[in-house]
Formats: sequence, C-alpha cells, structure tokens
Amino acid sequence: MHLLIKNGTLVTAADTFIADVEVEGEHIVRVGQDLQTPDDTRVIDATGKYVFPGGVDPHTHLDTPSQGTTTADDYLTGTIAAACGGTTSIVNFCFQQKGKGLNEVLDHFAARAVDKAAIDYGFHAMISDLTESVFDEISGLPSRGVTSIKLFMAYRGANMVDDRTIVRTLEASVDNGILVMVHAENGDAADLLQQQHLRAGKIAPKYHATSRPPRVEAEATARAAALAEVVNAPVYVVHVSCMEAVEEIQRARGRGVNIMGETCTHYLYFDERDLDRAGFEGAKYVYTPPPRNKHQPAYMWRAISNGSLRVVASDHCPFNFEGQKTLGAEDFTLIPNGAPGIEERLMFTYQGVNDGRLTLNRFVDLVSTTPAKIFGLYPRKGSIAIGSDADLVIWNPTAELTVTKPALHQNVDYTLYEGKQIVGLPETVTLRGQVIVENRQYVGTPGSGRFLARNSYVG
Ligand code: URP
Ligand code: ZN
Ligand code: ZN
Repeated sequence: MHLLIKNGTLVTAADTFIADVEVEGEHIVRVGQDLQTPDDTRVIDATGKYVFPGGVDPHTHLDTPSQGTTTADDYLTGTIAAACGGTTSIVNFCFQQKGKGLNEVLDHFAARAVDKAAIDYGFHAMISDLTESVFDEISGLPSRGVTSIKLFMAYRGANMVDDRTIVRTLEASVDNGILVMVHAENGDAADLLQQQHLRAGKIAPKYHATSRPPRVEAEATARAAALAEVVNAPVYVVHVSCMEAVEEIQRARGRGVNIMGETCTHYLYFDERDLDRAGFEGAKYVYTPPPRNKHQPAYMWRAISNGSLRVVASDHCPFNFEGQKTLGAEDFTLIPNGAPGIEERLMFTYQGVNDGRLTLNRFVDLVSTTPAKIFGLYPRKGSIAIGSDADLVIWNPTAELTVTKPALHQNVDYTLYEGKQIVGLPETVTLRGQVIVENRQYVGTPGSGRFLARNSYVG
C-alpha cells in the first residue's frame, strides 16, 4: 500500500523543510519534492501543516495495580487516547509485586496488551524485591527486548528499594546493556513527614506537597547520581519536578556522570495551589513528586528548553476522581498517586512553541526523538527518515481546542487541563503507514499495535 503526504512542513529534531513523504507498506521510502507515486496511492495534502515523527512516551502506567486499585486506562483505551494525542509508541512500566519474577511480570503485562494496543508498545521491567533469582533474570531481559529497569527510591513499605539494590542493579545494568531508571525521592523522609502530618490532623490533599518537599527529591537525585558514578553506569531520572533536582543533575553531569532527566507535562503547568482547589478537587493533582511552588513551572520550561532535562513524558497514571481518588478523602496518603496525560502531552508541550519557549525542533526532540534514542527505538521511531517506521503526525498549527474531559479519549473522569485553551492539534496520525487517527478521532484497528523489542541504550 502506498501513502503520500504532500507538501507538509516536515519537522525533525534537527531540521524544518517543506517536502513530500512517500510511504510504502510500513516504512518511509522517499522524502523529496513533487514525488510521483502509483495511481492507487492514498494522498494526504499537508499544505500549511507540520509533519512530526510520532510521539514516543517512555513513561506510562496502563492497566497497572497500585495502592489497592488499578489505573483506569487499559491498553485499549490508553493507547487510543495516546494515538489521538499524536503518540505512536509508549513504554509501559511493569510493576514487580514482591514474590514474582521479572519474566512472570512481563508475561502478565504482555498478555494484557496483546489484541488491545492501538499503537506500538514496549516494557520497562521494575524491581522492588531483588532476590537472587530476580537478579539472575536481569541478564536475560535484553533478549526479550526489555532494556530498561525502574527502581523506586520512594514508597517505603511498598516498592522502595535500598541503596545496595540500586548499586547491584546499576552494576548488572552496565554488564547487560540495560538502562536503570529511578524514581528519585527519599522514601524514608517522605514517609516520616507523612506520618507527622497525619498525627497533626493534616489530612487534606495539599499536604501531599508539604510532606515531600523539593529537597526530598533533590537528595535522592544526588544519591542516584553518586551511586551511578561509583559503578560508572548511566542513569535516567523519571519525572523530575523542581529546580533543586535539576541542579543535582547539572552538578553530576558537570563531573562527568551520565545522568539524564525527564520531566512530565504537568510540571510545566501546575503548582501546589492546585492541590488546594475547592472541595476535594485538589486530589486530582496528587501525583508524585507533587506540584511545586508557583515559580517552578517557569523554571521547568527553561530546563527543557536549555537541555538540562531531555525528555517530556506523560507519567500517565490515571485514576478516576469518583471511587479512586476519593479513597483518600480522610487521609491524603491514601489518594492513589498519579494523573492522566497520555493524550495531552504533545498538545501542551507544543504550547511552549506558541509561547516562544521552545523551537519546533526542540519540541520534536523532547517528545519523540530523544526518548526514542534513549530507549533503544531510534531511528525506527522518533525520526522522519528513509527506512524509519511511517509513524507520522500531521499537525494543524492553527486548530484550536478548549480542553475538556469529553474532548479527550482517556477512560478517566477528569483532565488536569479542564478549560484550558490551546492552539495547535494533531489531526491525522499514521502508525507504520496505516492512518489510525483522522480529525482527532481513532479510525484504526485495536490490536494492531505491536510489541517493541528495544535495543540497548547507547550513549
Ligand atoms: O504519581 C505518580 N507518579 N504515579 C505513578 C507512579 C510513579 O511514581 O511513577
Ligand atoms: Zn515514579
Ligand atoms: Zn510513573
């Protein structure tokens, strides 16, 4: 099957130019001017539109048990929402419950995704309990296409690991071409502060922020960097939320540590005042690390623009307000941590282009190219190049939307961005040459998303 996307303004992480893109089967076969193609070619006129490589979201929690409940989007609804937002690849976390092996957990998540996923998907392994048999499984992960492992330095009593586990996993990661990702917060400090808050009767959502302040995150970020330095391993810090943590990343990079930082769309928009919204509305903003003070979002925009942070992910971890967030009505520590954002990620990061905070190329780099590179998907994903998968987003820079819950496709009863007005939207999306989104509506075939066996991190 032939597809021709005509006359669009192609934007990669490096270049912006007007050209046609020819797709044959699943791949891009030509990029050039006035391309002639067979008569039965499907032609999409992209005049006046941008053509981006499909978004790559390396931080999602679809169909994931957490805090006694399960995230609201499964692989069907979550990946359809992702597609409608311009994302064509995700890497989902596979939580290891204590007592389970890594392969057993990966098999479980694979069974949940197959036949449902609307876009391509990979998996991160996760270790919460490093037994000897789990340790022995690490070396086999790359052969099944899993080249990253997440460790939690927070959530004491649940997923948190100790420093010995971090060092051992980092060491094994170097030996096996695996990238370690860390959730960097000092879990002991956060736990102690939470208990003190509750004893003092501080039970409302706003205490989520004061019980895990920026230094709690910065300390763990510095420690992760130091431990990676000890064994000369690269390390990737997920969901960086504040200046204090960015400074630790910069400090470590200054002395040669290969530490990479990701932030998430919500840290560019919200602050601790959102946790104090009327009624129990603040619970919608209970994600971890928490929204910070009102000066931090501007700082985070600068950090993604100047390269201090390299990726904008969604940390899509959706829980319904009704029935899930309300579990913590009497105790903020029981509010399931996480927020939706898989569909909003590109739209809201793109607003930085409108505001003059990001160049178009930097936008593409943050949401597609660099995550594809770091997580072993490039140049198959994250690029508009001959031979790359034809995952393309035709973006209308003048389309406007007032974001509301019904305007989105996520299976969750709210959006953080309710009522915000945006300019610039994904209109048409292709996945390996198939049009899966037209006019922001999903037109693909559920289950056509494929498992992504990823290469090792190189860098
Ligand atoms: O609040 C969050 N981020 N929930 C998802 C789990 C995690 O820590 O990434
Ligand atoms: Zn986390
Ligand atoms: Zn997360």
